[in-house]
Amino acid sequence: MRNLRLALVGFGTVGQGFTKLLSRKEHYLAEEYDLGVEVTAIVDTVLGTVVDHDGIDLDWALEKVEKDGEISDDKDPDTVGLIREEDFDVLAEITFTDIETGEPATSFIKGAIRSGKHVISTNKGPPALAMTELEELAEENGVIYRYEGTVLSGTPCINLGSEAMGGTEVTAIRGILNGTCNYILEEMEKGTAYEEALSTAQELGYAEADPTADVEGFDAGTKIVILANKLMGADLKISDLDRSGISGLTGDEVRDPDESGLKTKLIASAREDDGEINVEVGVEELPVDDPLAGVNGVLNAATFATDTLGDVTIIGPGAGSEATAQSLLTDLLAINDRL
Ligand code: HSE
Repeated sequence: MRNLRLALVGFGTVGQGFTKLLSRKEHYLAEEYDLGVEVTAIVDTVLGTVVDHDGIDLDWALEKVEKDGEISDDKDPDTVGLIREEDFDVLAEITFTDIETGEPATSFIKGAIRSGKHVISTNKGPPALAMTELEELAEENGVIYRYEGTVLSGTPCINLGSEAMGGTEVTAIRGILNGTCNYILEEMEKGTAYEEALSTAQELGYAEADPTADVEGFDAGTKIVILANKLMGADLKISDLDRSGISGLTGDEVRDPDESGLKTKLIASAREDDGEINVEVGVEELPVDDPLAGVNGVLNAATFATDTLGDVTIIGPGAGSEATAQSLLTDLLAINDRL
């Protein structure tokens, strides 16, 4: 049986969700994949840091954070130093997304790669701002950097386009890429006020630490940039986006689809015009028979226009603790396969 040692940097909603998933799937992973997973470090600047070379008891960590609101009082770790110097195989980088600087996540990822560790990450900043640099750095260092959870959480999207559909050419992408906005819009269609729907989306763990990124369209925009760069060979920046969000919408503007026959959706798209790839995020009213009109609540969807398959659409959860944790598990197993 192979044993992989993991360091978790970030122990918030997704970090705790991943910890629960690893604990719940311990026997399944041993039986089906002949794989043991040991978490030897959990690092979080709010909830504390614990390092145990014999493997942290995951249920203890989860109970401790639930009971005490922290796992230790070490809230000022030298995270980059720890990533470089501790002996583990895979960094799970699950800190908050900063789409302006990509930091501190990018430094954590680079530190891990340069010290010969693989990286699985749900952080959108680094691949949106430095995908090529990080992928080349990983290749030079003989390690793997995977970030499936950055788009559509655990629902296959990046892997679907780059691996499962290998060889097809993606010519356009159109999708619902933000669970928070999709949830809010559906609630508003039912008559719920915007603020109330946003606050429930935050309670449910869908929204970013700063939900402005969700409701102003930056989150969906970051995801479409990641997809266009990864699957369409583009070289776009977030500043290339033509973007608007849902924050200015009033209850009157989000009409009841039973009366209007239209569903209000925040749509992200990438398409080629005159040899140039353009990315856009904005609100659209879709006829109820549009395939994306039926994608409700926290569900997300992406339709890939391809040269060999025509349109391929994937629909599934796009946010949430367990759904995002699943992407880390998928990436971990993909790394395990390649070792
Ligand atoms: N805030 C994001 C969303 C989380 O609502 O889709 C998943 O990236």
